[in-house]
Amino acid sequence: MTALAPAVSAIEVKDLECRYGATVVLHEISFTVRRGEIFFIIGGSGCGKSTLLRNLIGLHVPSAGTVNFFGESLADAGEQRQRELLRTFGVLYQGGALWSSLTLRENVALPLEEYTPLSPAERDELVALKLAQVGLTGYGDHYPAELSGGMRKRAGLARALALDPAIVFFDEPSAGLDPLTSRSLDELIRQIRDTLGTTCVVVSHELASIFAIADRVLMLDKSAKGVVAEGSPHNLCQPGADARARAFLTRGENHP
Ligand SMILES: Nc1ncnc2c1ncn2[C@@H]1O[C@H](COP(=O)(O)OP(=O)(O)OP(=O)(O)O)[C@@H](O)[C@H]1O
Ligand SMILES: [Mg+2]
Repeated sequence: MTALAPAVSAIEVKDLECRYGATVVLHEISFTVRRGEIFFIIGGSGCGKSTLLRNLIGLHVPSAGTVNFFGESLADAGEQRQRELLRTFGVLYQGGALWSSLTLRENVALPLEEYTPLSPAERDELVALKLAQVGLTGYGDHYPAELSGGMRKRAGLARALALDPAIVFFDEPSAGLDPLTSRSLDELIRQIRDTLGTTCVVVSHELASIFAIADRVLMLDKSAKGVVAEGSPHNLCQPGADARARAFLTRGENHP
């Protein structure tokens, strides 16, 4: 495991600006994600949730501002340290992003082959453990196409967990899932956090998931091009909370 500084927040974002060419999508974004927290990034379509996620994990370079992970800046780290820090993240992309020509076992083994010196036998053992963690024991020899959408998400999560990440990022984990399957994925995310202490950052606009598992949410807004509210979903529904956040979280029913 990569050594990480103790007792600092998992992620600290300061004055971040995200743009595509000359178009600023988000500006003055500042927030902190605590260790072991389930933190949601929410907001209407096109407000910049996926953009923010891509800027956090280094797929896009922010046009201004800083992002620190456990007190360290990914952007300022040397190449070797960047590689180490990237190993401390897992990402569950929409659709699970599994290789269709590989079995589940092979899919989960990929990051282990790339980043660890484990022997094949040790790898097999770890893959079996990861599949068990997401409730897919016995499915190692299946191909992604043989699984339901919910199972593919679980398999994607097993792969995201392969290197024991300190933080897992999820982009719209419930997209395309029926409510019950979505609910069981929510429970799995909570279980991973509770048992492994993994910090979870979830991009979503699923109200059921937000109220079921989010400790805190960061709400983005397209016209504000930034953050309009931050707090527990419950608090953001109370009178006195930002009207846009309240309207979003109550589907407009409590909106003045
Ligand atoms: N590659 C890109 N190039 C230019 N503009 C982009 C690009 N990707 C997204 N945008 C624009 O940036 C804004 C934010 O998009 P983004 O995909 O981050 O929103 P989102 O909140 O994730 O939306 P959704 O809920 O629909 O997934 C939108 O106006 C979008 O058109
Ligand atoms: Mg998106």
